[in-house]
Amino acid sequence: MTDKIHKYRGKEIEVTFDAKRCIHSAECVRGLPEAFNTSRKPWVLPDAAAAEKVAEIVKRCPTGALHFKNAQNGLREETPEHNVAMLAKDGPIYLRGDIEILDAGGNVVLVDTRVALCRCGASRNKPFCDNAHRQSGFKDAGAINFQKSDEEEPVGHTKLRVQASPNGPLLVDGNVTIVDSSKTLQEKSNSPAFCRCGASGVKPYCDGSHNRVNFTDH
Ligand code: SF4
Ligand code: FES
Repeated sequence: MTDKIHKYRGKEIEVTFDAKRCIHSAECVRGLPEAFNTSRKPWVLPDAAAAEKVAEIVKRCPTGALHFKNAQNGLREETPEHNVAMLAKDGPIYLRGDIEILDAGGNVVLVDTRVALCRCGASRNKPFCDNAHRQSGFKDAGAINFQKSDEEEPVGHTKLRVQASPNGPLLVDGNVTIVDSSKTLQEKSNSPAFCRCGASGVKPYCDGSHNRVNFTDH
C-alpha cells in the first residue's frame, strides 16, 4: 500500500497513478484516449484535454488507481455522500464512498473514495484486486444472497471502515448499499462481512467457508 505513485503534472491538473491498483478496466483509455493512452510514454498527458474532462474520467476509475490534485477552477474529488459496494460478475467488489482501509492491527493504511477489493482469494495485492480472478477461475454471478427482510435500513452518511480479518472475511463497519452486478437489486447494510476467499455459499457475504477451504492471506 506504500507503492510508488506516479505523478503526471499538467498546467491545470495533476494526475496520480498507482500501477498496483490498476486492473485495466480501461475506463480511462476508452473515455479519453487523448489523455490516457497506454501505447505512448508517458501514458498520461493531462494537458491533452480540458482539465474538467480529465477530472471526470479520473473519477470513473473504479479501483482508485487514478486520482487528481492541484487542479485549477475549483475542481476536486468529492467524497460520495453514500457508500456503495458494487459486485462484479466473476470479479471484485468495487467500493465507492468515504473509505478507510485498516490493517489487521486496526491502523488506517489507506483513505480513499474508490477501491476494488479481491473476493476470489487469489490476489497478490490483498485486500485489493489485482485481476487474479481471471487466472483463478473464480465464478460468481455477482448476485446478492439477501440477509435482511424487514430490518430497519441504515440511514445517513458514515465512514466505511474495511478491515481484512486474518485468513477470514472483509469486515466492514459503516452504512453501505450493496448493488448486484446487474445494478438492479440492492441491499442496505451497516456491518457486512464480505467473503474474500471465494468459497462462500452465500456471496457476497461470508458463511465461514474460509475455514473449510483453509483460506490464507498469503
Ligand atoms: S480506469 Fe483505473 S483501473 Fe481502469 S485502466 Fe484506467 S487506471 Fe486502470
Ligand atoms: S471469507 Fe469466504 S466464506 Fe468467509
